[in-house]
Amino acid sequence: MICCHYPSARAGGDGAFTIDASRVTFGRGCIAELGDRARSLGMRRVALFTDPRVATLSIFERARRSLVSAGLELELYDGVRVEPTSVSFEEAARFALGATVDGFVSVGGGSVLDTAKAASLLSSYPAPLRAYANLPVGDARPVPGPLRPHLACPTTSGTGSEVTGIAVYDDLELGAKTAVASARLRPTEALIDPDATATLPAPVVAASGFDVLSHALESYTARAYCDRPAPERPTLRPMSQGRNPFSDLGCREALTLCGDYLLRAVADPADAEAREAMMWAATLAGVAFGSSGVHVPHAMAYAVAGLAHETSYRPAGYPEGEPLVPHGVSVVLSAPAVFRLTAETDPERHLEGARRLGAETRGASASDAGPILASRLAELMQAAGVPNGLRGVGYDDAHVPRLVLGTVPQARLLSNAPLTIGPPELERLFHTSMRCW
Ligand SMILES: [Fe+2]
Repeated sequence: MICCHYPSARAGGDGAFTIDASRVTFGRGCIAELGDRARSLGMRRVALFTDPRVATLSIFERARRSLVSAGLELELYDGVRVEPTSVSFEEAARFALGATVDGFVSVGGGSVLDTAKAASLLSSYPAPLRAYANLPVGDARPVPGPLRPHLACPTTSGTGSEVTGIAVYDDLELGAKTAVASARLRPTEALIDPDATATLPAPVVAASGFDVLSHALESYTARAYCDRPAPERPTLRPMSQGRNPFSDLGCREALTLCGDYLLRAVADPADAEAREAMMWAATLAGVAFGSSGVHVPHAMAYAVAGLAHETSYRPAGYPEGEPLVPHGVSVVLSAPAVFRLTAETDPERHLEGARRLGAETRGASASDAGPILASRLAELMQAAGVPNGLRGVGYDDAHVPRLVLGTVPQARLLSNAPLTIGPPELERLFHTSMRCW
């Protein structure tokens, strides 16, 4: 494809890209459509997944009532763990194996949606979780066949899990996050009701907002699909194909929405316009990165979140208990350092990203792209109350070797970067990310 700033594929490079997306219904109050939609997918007896906090919210009650009113029988699983682990995925799978259901409904944040995906997979095609996990942690065994229908209803405006085929978890033996990734895990339908975010506390809106921003910026600056080696067979083309003309569309709009609305959505729960805009940005960025993939900030984040139990960081707005670095925070803490480095690969794209996020870029030269984007990210983080770098969540330089070790296995993400990133680069990036301003 020669238009849209994409060159023809080089010898051995992929000459095409594939777009997959769930059916999406978006709008305030649309959670009331859940029962009718579940029935039309052939569901009669449903496994309903949520977590203990979401189970107390009115959005969950509206979802449950809609299912019951449509005559569906429910098997409730409300034990989803925020930041799921290999153990919590397997517990959920045992529940799903014992429940004779013909479909899955998930209502909650990314942890809930990802747990429902894993439970559906492991109860349909039982195997150890690592058999399906990404290389090199697991065997990356292909999902053997179709899964039962899954209706995903996100209650945070962040992960995009409702439109992707990725289920992220913390491998407790490895001490780092990894994922199962397959187009077959993608929910059959997403029901996205912005009213669900009306009661979210500001720190949760900030963390999930920076997750959206990072999805868009990483996808927009990823390696181009035509620079990735062509797959052996077309059906083996990976989900993380690299940036492409389709993913660019969603990323550009999501970045503009983040620039216009992220801080407003954090500042005021009553700002329904801003919270709805961030939900739409999350949807667009989710569909985009579902075909392009993200890269280095997410790879580093998996290690940051995986070692959180060694810190004493307990963020406001999240369940009390074990230390936790919320996903969006763990991602954005390294973003300024990463984009300062990657800017040289395509200064214009990085400048455009900064401009859409609200930075002044008039008169900027190619060498200004990295510093301008990094400082705009730091400004937004500071204004939203995000901790100042890895030190702000309890890490110091002594943690860097193990953070690097936890990132190296994220081959799916690192290979999607626009330049080669190995242990020496990661070491520098972690040191630089100790402080963001
Ligand atoms: Fe993310």
